[in-house]
Amino acid sequence: MAKKIKAAVIGVGNCFAGLVEGIQYYKEHPEAEKIGLMHDVIEGYSIYDIEWVAAYDVGKYKVGKPLRNAIYSEPNMVKWVKEVEGLDVEVRPSPVLDGVGSYVKEMFQPVDAFNGKPLDEVKTLIVDEIKASGANIIVNYLPVGSEKASKFWAEVALESGAAFVNNIPTFIASDPVWASKFKDKGLPIIGDDIKSQVGATIVHRILTWLVTKRGAVIDRTYQLNFGGNTDFANMLERSRLKSKKISKTEAVQSQMKEILDARDIHIGPSDYVPFLGNEKIAYIRIEGRMFADVPFNMELRLDVDDKANSGGTSIEAIRLAQLALDRGIGGPIYSASAYLMKHPPQQMSDAEAAAAVEAFIRGERDN
Ligand SMILES: NC(=O)c1ccc[n+]([C@@H]2O[C@H](COP(=O)([O-])OP(=O)(O)OC[C@H]3O[C@@H](n4cnc5c(N)ncnc54)[C@H](O)[C@@H]3O)[C@@H](O)[C@H]2O)c1
Repeated sequence: MAKKIKAAVIGVGNCFAGLVEGIQYYKEHPEAEKIGLMHDVIEGYSIYDIEWVAAYDVGKYKVGKPLRNAIYSEPNMVKWVKEVEGLDVEVRPSPVLDGVGSYVKEMFQPVDAFNGKPLDEVKTLIVDEIKASGANIIVNYLPVGSEKASKFWAEVALESGAAFVNNIPTFIASDPVWASKFKDKGLPIIGDDIKSQVGATIVHRILTWLVTKRGAVIDRTYQLNFGGNTDFANMLERSRLKSKKISKTEAVQSQMKEILDARDIHIGPSDYVPFLGNEKIAYIRIEGRMFADVPFNMELRLDVDDKANSGGTSIEAIRLAQLALDRGIGGPIYSASAYLMKHPPQQMSDAEAAAAVEAFIRGERDN
């Protein structure tokens, strides 16, 4: 009998819809089984072994619906398959806190289901729900800028005895205080901010590594990103972007020998173009100097489905969190965080991180 992973999702948006629709796609297309997966099976866990036993959101079109319907509800826009099997649980309400920014309020239509109940009471209620659901991993897909809401859910994980996969740029796995809380409870945490499968961050990192490794230097670089989903609409609100910008910039800067002056490195989400939907465009420019101080300039354009890109990575993070749970390992999983997340507690090169993940899977390293 295959082992099952029992997970809860926070934020039933496009990333989650992409993840579960992608898994369904593989079910319906056995011939595509291995295309697009880093691992088919991880220590006995196939991609079909994740069971969603709880789901939370705030959107009026999602809360109270079966999860299988909520993934297709406004303003979600992933429609790769007609129906996803399973997903029977009802989407439960979550406290809104700082989850909904001003640019997406109209689209999400948040409902406050708790009528001013003190947050501690709401938390106790939700911790009981999570325990009753049997979830042992909480997957965070809240919008960028959800600092309070992410911390609320990290506390729920600690109090209900669940591992935490932090897909968003709030610093929890990479914050030593939070990391030690997970370590003390013997609960694994993988984070922060999912690094897409073939996304702008990993491409920019690898090019940066390549230039540096070949002995050239980078003088200036930018990465401009735009797309047409609620994630990009939300990121129009600059005040919600502080940690996103740090996360994306450090991910690239960490691959260089010298720290660039802040004026010479610009990395961030740049605009919202509604007709693009989940299509995301990134422009990357690297200006530098090579042999004999001779300058070069490279430009790259990347055009990807943003949600396939996050699904291809989170399908790994969830199974690696389960592996850590099985082995009784608490605290940050450094290997998985470095490979799969932009702002891990410990940066590595992507080649080192890939090797570290394989060593972790083989049981040759603890985390
Ligand atoms: N390639 C990628 O898509 C990628 C890469 C890195 C990070 N991320 C991050 O993943 C997160 C999810 O992205 P997405 O595209 O699914 O976003 P989305 O806008 O489609 O979904 C967010 C969901 O969260 C819900 N929500 C808002 N406040 C909430 C609260 N307090 N409690 C519970 N639910 C709440 C919204 O109603 C919505 O359903 C974002 O932070 C995004 O930046 C995505």
